[in-house]
Amino acid sequence: MDKNFKRTTVTSALPYANGPVHIGHLAGVYVPADIYVRYLRLKGRDVLFIGGSDEHGVPVTIRARKEGITVQEVVDRYHNLIKDSFERFGISFDVYSRTTSKTHHKLASDFFKKLYDEGKFVERVSEQFYDEQTGHFLTDRNIRGECPRCHTADAYGDQCEHCGATLSPEELINPYNAETGNPLVKRETKHWYLPLDKDQAWLEKWILEDHKEWRPNVYGQCKSWLDGGLHPRAVTRDLDWGIPVPVEGAEGKVLYVWFDAPIGYISNTKELCDAHPELGSWETWWKDPETRLVHFIGKDNIVFHCIVFPAMLKAHGEYILPDNVPSNEFLNLEGNKISTSKNYAVWLNEYLDELPDRQDELRYVLTANAPETKDNDFTWADFQARCNNELVAVYGNFVNRALQLTQKYYEGRVPECGELNDYDRETLAEFQGVKEKLESLLENFKFRDAQKEAMNLARIGNKYIADCEPWKVIKTDSDRVRTIIYISLQLTANLAIAFEPFLPFSSKRLRDMLAMDEFQWDWLGRTDLLPTDKQLNKPSLLFSKIEDDVIAFQQQKLADTIKANEAANYKAEPIKDTISFDDFQKLDIRVGTVLECERVPKMKKLLKFRIADGSSPSTGAGVGSRTIVSGISQWYEPEQLIGKQVLFVANLAPREFKNGLVSEGMILSAENYDGTISVTTVEHEVKPGSQIS
Ligand code: MF3
Ligand code: ZN
Repeated sequence: MDKNFKRTTVTSALPYANGPVHIGHLAGVYVPADIYVRYLRLKGRDVLFIGGSDEHGVPVTIRARKEGITVQEVVDRYHNLIKDSFERFGISFDVYSRTTSKTHHKLASDFFKKLYDEGKFVERVSEQFYDEQTGHFLTDRNIRGECPRCHTADAYGDQCEHCGATLSPEELINPYNAETGNPLVKRETKHWYLPLDKDQAWLEKWILEDHKEWRPNVYGQCKSWLDGGLHPRAVTRDLDWGIPVPVEGAEGKVLYVWFDAPIGYISNTKELCDAHPELGSWETWWKDPETRLVHFIGKDNIVFHCIVFPAMLKAHGEYILPDNVPSNEFLNLEGNKISTSKNYAVWLNEYLDELPDRQDELRYVLTANAPETKDNDFTWADFQARCNNELVAVYGNFVNRALQLTQKYYEGRVPECGELNDYDRETLAEFQGVKEKLESLLENFKFRDAQKEAMNLARIGNKYIADCEPWKVIKTDSDRVRTIIYISLQLTANLAIAFEPFLPFSSKRLRDMLAMDEFQWDWLGRTDLLPTDKQLNKPSLLFSKIEDDVIAFQQQKLADTIKANEAANYKAEPIKDTISFDDFQKLDIRVGTVLECERVPKMKKLLKFRIADGSSPSTGAGVGSRTIVSGISQWYEPEQLIGKQVLFVANLAPREFKNGLVSEGMILSAENYDGTISVTTVEHEVKPGSQIS
């Protein structure tokens, strides 16, 4: 860290209180921020870690109306749930507050007022859609109407989900309120805009020249916004949920959620510092140029944190600007996009309930797979593999061996170190070098590589003890074993420090076993962390294996969600053009009984049927029948269908397959939304050949 800074204010994006937090949020924002903060604290730096819920905006109001409860009830529920799960997961906020707090309402309102009074906004009147019956202006997503392209009746104001067209509400034919169904009219409304065009020049210099060290994804996104030219942005909305615009004549208007939410970082700091005078004034953490401000965010927040919020801070005049804005890309889940509205996610609260005491396992995998430079995928199979092959088999195994042998040979006391050989010295040297490597990676927000380094230490330890085979050497050279165990224990103590920012729960368990009451980051690399004769505590396993059934349960849960969503989204194909009754009469559909059914060699999809069709048997005996071939083998075992009565088209021209097989008709079957096939049949048994009409 730059020596000019005395303290660091770390913020992490305030999650919307419209649903629980999921692994995408954790991987993108909260786990990296927590690693960074724990590292700084361990180094003895002054740091505050600011969090909180973002409780304004439209989504919480939609959720409330859908569930028939008040918006306050929605945000109370999710704020508490999120706060509680962060705590259980070990995200070590100094404060976790909310944007509905009094402190925040006042601070955000004053912030706006100051800018307003100083003429920093421009006022503009524009026409927006308005529901005269409810007295509300509507947001794009809340407007529906007929699609101008495909004429589906219920396209959204921003998109038609039927034909995929991108729309603006103006284009909709007969727009209506999506929730009430009321028709909409255009009405004039006044809003305040932040004239970002005037900030273009200094933002270009500040970001593109002075902050070349920002992550390429962040820098690149800023550059493309700046290259495109900045435009004024409205910072108020016509809504009844939010912070009222503190200006006369602005009744029914609130601050835009992206105006108030980042100010929430400041309000939450104030709330914390006001309650803890020993932390100093909140203003020191936001206004002193010797404070370093770092925002951890997801990639969809980049423009707000790198362009809009800095422009607000600058317009206000008293605040420092962020020194870095480490932003991650997105995490996908089993190859699909994580989605709160589609309920497709691994929710933190459910994870904590379903995999109790496995916080570090998730932290480990999310960091190992962190989407630092590109989108990444979380899969349960990978989760299991990393836990079992890395945490259990490497780190856990090494620690367990070292501690168990100490119990067995020395009743849990640290033995004396004898003379070192070359291998010992090499091993120790690798440990001594790791502090610097870790620091440089952590300070540059490369958490994934940093954790890899820490894991590499465990690998070195694991290899060391496996190579040295103290359990064999004990029979011949007990002095040598003392040295091996001594070194292994020092390595173990180093791991407890190195992993603390990443895996705080197991690090704590390990320190308890090692009876390490005190520790600091700067001790990393020392080889005398556990003095000879120190009595260690009884060891237990640091990590345990994740069994297959746990993984299968989670995979099934996601598969069920996908199915439920597909079913909910299914829309039948549009009905075909009308035909005359005569046309219908031309079709001869009949009931047939399946006499035989078998697979067709070399043609995987096909089943070959012999169907009793009611015709006179050609041989004069038994029942008449015909052959029909149908591509449904994926859905049925041949035996399942024998004896069934099915519907078939009896007068379809015969069709010949490549292998000479001829199908004399077609069995009717229904295709479900997910592509599965179900053959049609009759309710009561009828004579083969009965006509359908
Ligand atoms: N609630 C926003 C989101 O989840 C993040 C807000 S961050 C803050 O995308 F800066 F506004 F606080
Ligand atoms: Zn359309």
